[in-house]
Amino acid sequence: MRVIVHRPGGYERLTIAPAEPGAPAPDELQIRVRAIGVNYADCLVRRGLYASARDYVGWPITPGFEVAGEVVAAGAACEGWTPGDPAVAVTRFGGYAGLLNVPAAQVFRAPATLTPAQAAALPTVFLTAWYALHKLGDARPGARVLIHSAAGGVGGMLVQLAKRAGCIAVGVVGASHKVEAARAHGADVVIDKSREPLWTVARARAPGGFEVVCDANGVETLRESYRHLAPTGRLIVYGFHTMLPHGGRTRWLRLAWNYLRTPRFNPLALTQENRSVMGFNLSYLFEQRALLREGVEQLLAALADGSVRAPAVTCYPLARVAEAHRALESGQTVGKLVLEP
Ligand SMILES: NC(=O)c1ccc[n+]([C@@H]2O[C@H](COP(=O)([O-])OP(=O)(O)OC[C@H]3O[C@@H](n4cnc5c(N)ncnc54)[C@H](OP(=O)(O)O)[C@@H]3O)[C@@H](O)[C@H]2O)c1
Repeated sequence: MRVIVHRPGGYERLTIAPAEPGAPAPDELQIRVRAIGVNYADCLVRRGLYASARDYVGWPITPGFEVAGEVVAAGAACEGWTPGDPAVAVTRFGGYAGLLNVPAAQVFRAPATLTPAQAAALPTVFLTAWYALHKLGDARPGARVLIHSAAGGVGGMLVQLAKRAGCIAVGVVGASHKVEAARAHGADVVIDKSREPLWTVARARAPGGFEVVCDANGVETLRESYRHLAPTGRLIVYGFHTMLPHGGRTRWLRLAWNYLRTPRFNPLALTQENRSVMGFNLSYLFEQRALLREGVEQLLAALADGSVRAPAVTCYPLARVAEAHRALESGQTVGKLVLEP
């Protein structure tokens, strides 16, 4: 069983089909999937707005970047795996399925302390937050870090990693019911932008500016995120979700208008102001095996020493995938959504 999207569009495009994979290739493991992490990017894939989905797959497509379950078969060249081993895998699409063949280099052993839902909820948020904060942001102890959408999947992990690194974490949330979740991740300050003026409060909390700002909002906040950097500050751009309305339909005129309104940064100004703007997309980094391995080792170490916790998860049966997408696109969710085949 897998979810197949034949054409871009709304929730009705998420169809379930009985397709199963054949035997795994020599370098692949076959995994019986128990849980699948849902990411905002999956909604963009469904809408036909995700560039790497077009580059690597095209139509039809099965979305999904991460799964947890157990190994049922190992290809001839895969050493150290036996049927029954608990496994977590990152997938470049294709994860919304009950049975899956995945290159062994993208699979790691699931810690026994985690449920499959917790395990499936971790790879994308951790790897994204770790790469943003440490590989690009160079977050040092004492650094002031501003994190948008701090109660969400990636945002919550950014708060946890910032605190783990000894930073001062200022989280921003878009609704009052999210404040507690951002605090529970460890945020020193939570700004509820539905009730208080985001940038006035941010300035009061960091009069000299922020050393790191992590922004996946895009058009709504990017300009001010840049303006609130301290000298030598780094703005890490990793998403653009405010370009789109809440809800499943794409409004093309508004999207084009928001695209045009998205700030462009002038290299002359960056130089004179000693500020940097950096961006990345994990789905184009799968070939960087050493980087992936390093990130996964960091994740396992952080789980083992207790410095990082799995996000809170809300589970949906795989057949209710449309509800999960609707919830994520509402902008009201806290933590991570997970599908269970
Ligand atoms: N570059 C990469 O490699 C990479 C990897 C993973 C994720 N991402 C990006 O990181 C962001 C967060 O992803 P996630 O899966 O962890 O989602 P999430 O943060 O759990 O949920 C999205 C959050 O974004 C905010 N939001 C603002 N406008 C929205 C809109 N029009 N529709 C939906 N949500 C909206 C809402 O929080 P508030 O209202 O509280 O702000 C919402 O809760 C996304 O932009 C995603 O594309 C990038």
